[in-house]
Amino acid sequence: MNDRVYIFDTTLRDGEQSPGVSLNTQEKLDIAQQLARLGVDVIEAGFPITSKGDFEAVKAIAETVKGPAICGLARASEKDIDRAWEALQGAEYPCIHTFIATSDIHLKYKLKMTREEVLEAIAKAVSYARRFTDYVEYSPEDGSRTDTDFICRVVETAIKAGARVVNIPDTVGYATPEEFGAFIANITNRVPNIDQAILSVHCHNDLGLAVANTLAALRNGARQVEGTINGIGERAGNVALEEVIMTLRTRKDIYGLRTNINTEEIYRTSRLVSTMTGMATSGNKPIVGKNVFVHESGIHQDGVLKERTTYEIMNPATIGLTINNIVLGKHSGRHAFKERLAELGFTLSEEELNKAFVRFKDLADRKKEITDRDLEALVEDQIRRVPEKFQLEHMHISSGNRVVPTATVGIRFNEQLVEEAACGDGPIDAVFKAIDKITGISVCLKHYALNAVTGGKDAMGEVVVRLAVKDKVFVGRGLSVDVIEASARAYINALNKAVFDLGEDIIGEAVNGNGNGIRVLVE
Ligand code: KIV
Ligand code: ZN
Repeated sequence: MNDRVYIFDTTLRDGEQSPGVSLNTQEKLDIAQQLARLGVDVIEAGFPITSKGDFEAVKAIAETVKGPAICGLARASEKDIDRAWEALQGAEYPCIHTFIATSDIHLKYKLKMTREEVLEAIAKAVSYARRFTDYVEYSPEDGSRTDTDFICRVVETAIKAGARVVNIPDTVGYATPEEFGAFIANITNRVPNIDQAILSVHCHNDLGLAVANTLAALRNGARQVEGTINGIGERAGNVALEEVIMTLRTRKDIYGLRTNINTEEIYRTSRLVSTMTGMATSGNKPIVGKNVFVHESGIHQDGVLKERTTYEIMNPATIGLTINNIVLGKHSGRHAFKERLAELGFTLSEEELNKAFVRFKDLADRKKEITDRDLEALVEDQIRRVPEKFQLEHMHISSGNRVVPTATVGIRFNEQLVEEAACGDGPIDAVFKAIDKITGISVCLKHYALNAVTGGKDAMGEVVVRLAVKDKVFVGRGLSVDVIEASARAYINALNKAVFDLGEDIIGEAVNGNGNGIRVLVE
């Protein structure tokens, strides 16, 4: 059997279904471009019929991103398939992915259809999609909980109708490895036309078994893996692609399978996805967590110094992780800064470089040693920004255990410096309230998280906030050695995204010049 495994990335479709995640078109494009550099075979860019935003993003990715096939999801209906095609037609290799559930539980309670009716719907949808492209994938939703004899009929029907890939989802993450492996073996051995299609799997992680189930399926004939970067997705998420990819690479002796992935791009892709989605990975997240290549115990450190492979099963360089700790400081010049960024894989325009250098100098004044991780965080923060309608100019905080926390914040808006003060439950709350007074935008803070980028007392704090504005959620991210400043930056970043997406009408009247209590300091 062929040893090539195709990697189908659904970070932008199933991954975006993670609670609280909402990406704009530009962010999706950035992620899609990085996925192309990573070398995935297919990018599922979205579900075009679900919203105008999803449609636009799939269309933009289809027209721009070259290399991987670009896929759009559609239920088994002509309307969905038409809309998916409308979005996909500009792609180099367009793929329509259509699905309908097949388990008895879904048939009885959700679809209210008989098995025969479902078979008919599959044949109709797949052959309809084939009118547009010869690259059609079909998924029997809740496939793993579908009766074995029936799933064999389902797969055979889809292939007969023209599906090039049939994907078996463990939609609710219920399967176990032995069971799922046997289920896939049954399909491989019993479906008469299986050699005319690629068998794919799509595992969710509700029991923490998504990687194990995926590997069991690959051992039993599956040759495509669907999953997401960092394992983000609905509920407990999807299978983490980087974990499957690195298992296949590290244990080639066991699996004897290969992918086309450029593994050196894994770390950057993971960081980009966590930055854009605001979903930080835990320190012990396999492959990409910040502790994965750190050795704390003296015995381990000694072993690694003598011979790396004593305690490291993967070389960090294979995932693109440079272990170069103290690189730059206060006396480093623009040239050294630019060189190091290039070594880390960042190519910045002159303007981006200038701005990043100003922030680097500011950081160097406040932090003695600047590591690669600090640089990555700083540059990512710098270059992935929407137009900065609001810019943090200054802030002053008064706080303590026996005083009411108060914040004064100055923000530059339309070339004016606007200042406001507010009290709050804590200093961060006070800062957010002062910003709210300035912008006049009606906001609900849904989520706040603070992480240290590196270790030590002077570590940079990275704050991620999610703000709901007019039923939409915007993720903001801010960095600083001062966590209150990082919080203000994150909050303002999310507000800038909201203005970029929803327009300036959301800005309150106050800041536009006729409010009460606003002090315009500089005109
Ligand atoms: O989990 C699932 O069943 C899906 C399908 C649409 C493939 O995401
Ligand atoms: Zn799914």
